[in-house]
Amino acid sequence: MKTKIPENVTIFDTTLRDGEQSPGVSLTPQQKVEISRSLDALGVDVLEAGFPITSEGEFEAVKTIANSGLNAEVCGLARTKQEDIDSCLDCDVDRVHTFIGTSEIHMQHKLRMTPDQVIAKAIEAVEYCTDHGVKVEFSAEDASRTKIEFLKDICVAVTEAGVSTINIPDTVGVAIPSAMVWLVEEVKSVSNAEISVHCHNDLGLAVANSLAAAEAGAEQIQVCMNGVGERAGNAALEEVVVALKYMYGIETNIQLNKIFDTAQLISRLMRFPIPANKPLIGRNAFAHESGIHTHAVITSPYTYEPISPEAVGARRRIVSGKHSGGHGVNETLQNAGIIVTQPQLREIVSRIKALGDKGIRITDPDVEVIGKAVLESTPEDQRVLQLEELLVVSGTKVTPTATVKLLVDGEKVLVAENGVGAVDAAIKAIQSITPKSGKFILTDFRMDAITGGSEAVADAQVTVEDEFGNRATARGVSEDIVTAGVEAIIEAVNKLILTK
Ligand code: KIV
Ligand code: ZN
Repeated sequence: MKTKIPENVTIFDTTLRDGEQSPGVSLTPQQKVEISRSLDALGVDVLEAGFPITSEGEFEAVKTIANSGLNAEVCGLARTKQEDIDSCLDCDVDRVHTFIGTSEIHMQHKLRMTPDQVIAKAIEAVEYCTDHGVKVEFSAEDASRTKIEFLKDICVAVTEAGVSTINIPDTVGVAIPSAMVWLVEEVKSVSNAEISVHCHNDLGLAVANSLAAAEAGAEQIQVCMNGVGERAGNAALEEVVVALKYMYGIETNIQLNKIFDTAQLISRLMRFPIPANKPLIGRNAFAHESGIHTHAVITSPYTYEPISPEAVGARRRIVSGKHSGGHGVNETLQNAGIIVTQPQLREIVSRIKALGDKGIRITDPDVEVIGKAVLESTPEDQRVLQLEELLVVSGTKVTPTATVKLLVDGEKVLVAENGVGAVDAAIKAIQSITPKSGKFILTDFRMDAITGGSEAVADAQVTVEDEFGNRATARGVSEDIVTAGVEAIIEAVNKLILTK
């Protein structure tokens, strides 16, 4: 494919300006400074630190960032008003990014200005910046809905006024890739300034539109880390730079292996969670659950991964659930140092699938405790006691009762007992039907919810002791805490019987 894509594409990051305009996001000056450092370390070429006229805190943040010796060029946003530009100049920014609406809808309904007045304001702003010795970037806001002849006229005017960069924003995210190509070509036909694009993601096309613009020769792309920004956000920095590298062979100055950590820091400070399925940085971006996928990925990662997770500083996750197969589960167990036999692995997988079928989300720690429970359990053919059925009744105004059906040496025994609680009632029921173990008492009972939440997998660990002082410990794992406790006790009693 032949494109006009430049060899060097400049990454203009606006996480701290358009990104901070995301509804609900507000950063302190200190947080902005912290983010600016991490974006600088990431390697952005231009860093739009904010819109200094908007508040004292914003002014303080932009000024501190501009004077903090970053490698990136620091930019401030300004309307075409002198006071906005003065505010940027007072912050000592390297570049002023000035903008004015150029579509009919913006000129008539927002600015209430004629096209001639808009052009005059744009020229005045650009000249004011160049007169003050600062680089100037001009944005024709809502360019993608601007009449093309007027867009070209204003671009000619700002070019003659000394603009360094012309930015073409798709302000409400309505462009399609072919339209971006056309817009860039049209603007390039009348201006020799550097051409930039700024694409919003209202229709999910921000990254595709940015790449199309680069294919048409745009030298700069405005992006936000994690795709944050007004409404549905801006083109995601990480997606644009990874696509440039892997799809077009274009290197930027971005250190790809810092992407994941930078994304997490920004998400945390902005209190803006990253969706699980967000490309490259989401929790699921390099996670595999289905047996077919995990088996293939473990053998050869490129079967189901476009790039290696390490390339962006992320890690592959093998997730367990109802789609899991033995390979994936075994990998999770081995990573936790748990080595199991094939029959044990089959039992672990079947328990995981059973939990998955009940809609329970299974995490790696859950897999580990299930693995340990199976590993520590008595082999099926040696179990004297087997739980067949368990029914408990408990509540505030009822006597806790447990009905337990056990297989004792292959024979069905059913018994019901009362207790102070459901687990206590179940223990009493088991005690009444376990003559081989003699009397036993529960000396330790510990219950952990592995990953928290009411749906978490419960891990019960118990110790039982018989009348001769013999002890046995065991664990039971289930989505239900009473079942986990009862299974652990039965397992421990089995062990007691076997030691006799
Ligand atoms: O979306 C937009 O048009 C903007 C401009 C200020 C560049 O954010
Ligand atoms: Zn924007």
